[in-house]
Amino acid sequence: MASSFKGLRGLLALAVALASTHYTLAQSSNSVVIDTIYSTIYSHKTPGGIDPGLLVKTSPKIAFVPGNAVTESVNSTDGGTTPTVVGVNIASNRNLQTMTGGGCGVTDSAAIALQDLKARDAEIYDEIMDLLFSQDDAVIEKGGVALSNIRSPLGASDFAGVLYSYSDTTDCSPDTDLKLFDIDKAVKMWATHKDALARNPNIDHFFAPWSPPAWMKKPKDGERCSMIGGSLKPEYYGVFAQYLTKSMVAIKEKLGKTPYALSIQNEPQYLPPNYPGNKLTPAQAAEIGDLTRAALDKAGLDSVGLTAFDHNWDGYQWPIDLLDNSTSYNSISWHCYGGQPSSQLLVSNAYPDLPVFMTECTVITQYNSELWKNLRTQAIRMLIGTIQYGSSKSIFWNCALVTDDDGFTTPTLPNVCTNCNAPIVIYNSGAGPAPANGGQQLSHTSTPSTKRAIPENPHQRDGTVARPFSSVSRRQNNNDGKPYYKLTSDYVTLMHFDRATRPRSGSEKNAIRTGVTTSEQKNNNEDGERVRVSAFKTPLAGNKHRYSLIVLQKNDHELTGKYENVTLQIGFENMVANVTLPCGLHTLTWVA
Ligand SMILES: *[C@@H]1O[C@H](CO)[C@@H](O)[C@H](O)[C@H]1NC(C)=O
Ligand SMILES: *[C@@H]1O[C@H](CO)[C@@H](O)[C@H](O)[C@H]1NC(C)=O
Ligand SMILES: *[C@@H]1O[C@H](CO)[C@@H](O)[C@H](O)[C@H]1NC(C)=O
Ligand SMILES: *[C@@H]1O[C@H](CO)[C@@H](O)[C@H](O)[C@H]1NC(C)=O
Repeated sequence: MASSFKGLRGLLALAVALASTHYTLAQSSNSVVIDTIYSTIYSHKTPGGIDPGLLVKTSPKIAFVPGNAVTESVNSTDGGTTPTVVGVNIASNRNLQTMTGGGCGVTDSAAIALQDLKARDAEIYDEIMDLLFSQDDAVIEKGGVALSNIRSPLGASDFAGVLYSYSDTTDCSPDTDLKLFDIDKAVKMWATHKDALARNPNIDHFFAPWSPPAWMKKPKDGERCSMIGGSLKPEYYGVFAQYLTKSMVAIKEKLGKTPYALSIQNEPQYLPPNYPGNKLTPAQAAEIGDLTRAALDKAGLDSVGLTAFDHNWDGYQWPIDLLDNSTSYNSISWHCYGGQPSSQLLVSNAYPDLPVFMTECTVITQYNSELWKNLRTQAIRMLIGTIQYGSSKSIFWNCALVTDDDGFTTPTLPNVCTNCNAPIVIYNSGAGPAPANGGQQLSHTSTPSTKRAIPENPHQRDGTVARPFSSVSRRQNNNDGKPYYKLTSDYVTLMHFDRATRPRSGSEKNAIRTGVTTSEQKNNNEDGERVRVSAFKTPLAGNKHRYSLIVLQKNDHELTGKYENVTLQIGFENMVANVTLPCGLHTLTWVA
């Protein structure tokens, strides 16, 4: 896979260092030293505030010295020239959930976008798939995110080209024996899964239907059966459980891998007026879950988990009612489109043994102008909020989408989210041949983007050698009729999640979240906190750990364009280290 990176240009070797005034060099081999900082830096001179294709890696060698961090933030009194000081305290003995990786959604839209790209330009497709899924160190060093989770719909979702399920009849007549059952209607989805598995054989696969087949549903009076609207007829609960089980059996055969978890219904509290859905009460979900659990076990798929809820933070009473009424579920899944992440705790307090997963989240964006704003939002939700309240995974929505310069994503069903973000957006320059495989035509007109300079980097200094990477090559390439792609703020979030939590070799165990507090947390006003953090520790040989601290430095005066540095005093095992960080997202690591 690494060979496909030969095409990547723009790999720069910048000499970068943090402010040398804050360095204390390691005195002895026993000292604990912040050895690596990955930074995505905010700059008002960069369009959108950040360059998502640039992860600046520095090796600052900042040593911890005996002492303690401040417990009260010390505000700058000179407009930031002397930075505000924030205390961060790592509770290194506090072991919380074990982290199990980032991920993204392979919907029909994402799969069509990717497979049609493959037909047009296999090299660019390989580059994108490598960036998302490759576990190869060389690829990761160039910016790969090494994802280990994929979530896919069973049949049409809002991100589908057409309405379909795996059992469709033309006249609403029932197919109760599922004779028409066929997962090959999603052929591009399985092709994408297989290419992802070729890069990472250890992917956890999540599946969820947006709706049962239309014929299983009672439509609104006077209307035809449809996957949109209506409700699952109680007499088909058992058939629906068979349908879900048959899907898991067929997918296992297709991919050569047992699915990790099944949700019986995506977003069960909401009946969308314009795309497939099916509203369920907790009691209904309990009954369907019990039937599905029994059918899975009978089919020998007892290792396929049933995950509860798969919906927003604000609806937290629903999963409590479900879990009170059924023991068939063995995890809880959350989406981010309503409420606060602390709701996760309300359910976990009642069901502390069930693992928690963030299974779907994206931002609605005008992409080019909102990169930093979107990064702030997603870092708070996906790297801090959902993790702080127990999630071990951070799974974004669509892995990749096709976008034109207005930010519209295709293909989707009519009237659904037309500017939902994705970690990678693909631009078709229009001049290439139509997809050879009869896929949806994805041609758009687009204004050629000019070559962009690497943004001014406030960290830039002579001294420490850094290896920033840049993915600008394809952005410069759009005059030649070839498709190209851009990385987004969602991608940046996944990069930091990966650098902080992924085991770095086959022998390393998964990272564990550890306790951390800041001196900004006084007022119980998360929005007002200038620094938000998550901390992790990865067990290493010899009883040591690699600690990773994700820092969202958002001392940007609420996006007024005025941004100020913050000096973190990081308190760790009766030691302290000062690190001055500019506005942006940073991941710091040290071994102790
Ligand atoms: C922020 O800190 C960096 C060093 O980390 C320094 O180069 C830069 O000038 C500072 N920016 C401001 C606005 O003070
Ligand atoms: C420091 O600044 C923050 C954010 O502007 C403010 O909320 C806080 O009240 C200030 N603290 C003091 C002691 O002035
Ligand atoms: C079961 O579900 C019902 C209906 O959703 C709910 O009212 C109840 O609280 C749930 N729990 C138990 C233990 O019945
Ligand atoms: C950290 O910064 C504070 C002031 O913000 C200073 O008093 C202290 O000496 C510094 N500590 C180290 C180890 O540099």
